[in-house]
Amino acid sequence: MILGVVGSGSSPSNSRRLLEEALAGAAEARAVERRVECLADLRFRGCVGCRACRTYADGCVLRDDLTPVLRATAECRALVLATPIYYGYASGLFKSYLDRWYSFRDAGRNLRVPSGRPALLIVTQGHPDPKAYAWTLGSLEKVLAAYGFEPRALVATGLEEGGAVDRSPELLARARDLGRALAA
Ligand SMILES: Cc1cc2nc3c(=O)[nH]c(=O)nc-3n(C[C@H](O)[C@H](O)[C@H](O)COP(=O)(O)O)c2cc1C
Repeated sequence: MILGVVGSGSSPSNSRRLLEEALAGAAEARAVERRVECLADLRFRGCVGCRACRTYADGCVLRDDLTPVLRATAECRALVLATPIYYGYASGLFKSYLDRWYSFRDAGRNLRVPSGRPALLIVTQGHPDPKAYAWTLGSLEKVLAAYGFEPRALVATGLEEGGAVDRSPELLARARDLGRALAA
């Protein structure tokens, strides 16, 4: 299964549109189950720092709508993540999801999830400069790598309005190509 996780609740959403294009590309490369989770549709908390996952528990002890999404994240063969830039970083929804990944390591800091899985990180922003949030991108890629994923990224710039990405066939084609490569 290839899992897509969207960190925006906008409608239309640039990040969701690119994620769906990437998943369509993945399906072109191979017959694979696809699942999309939109974080804005879920009721969940961010990590509260209880550290149960890193002491006595075998995973995150919070039980909410993110619980099955964390399980799917742990089990998928590849991951597509999409977030808009909010004030220079990922959206709060997306950051809260990523923080809950803390439970993907145990008390000995050993990974509870497989390593070597490909992940595509799609970042959308209004700013026209793809390097404007380079630190943010690097930081998100480091988190992915810390949990064993092999990240690649698409920075989609100049997308101030919802739906703007539909006027950029080049960005849509890049997302599709990256999705195809992810599944190949
Ligand atoms: C709360 C908020 C904060 C934003 N902050 C930034 C920002 O710091 N830099 C930027 O380039 N765009 C910023 N944007 C614009 C979004 O990143 C951009 O519109 C993106 O394409 C939205 O993706 P979506 O349609 O998937 O929600 C912000 C948008 C919102 C709603």
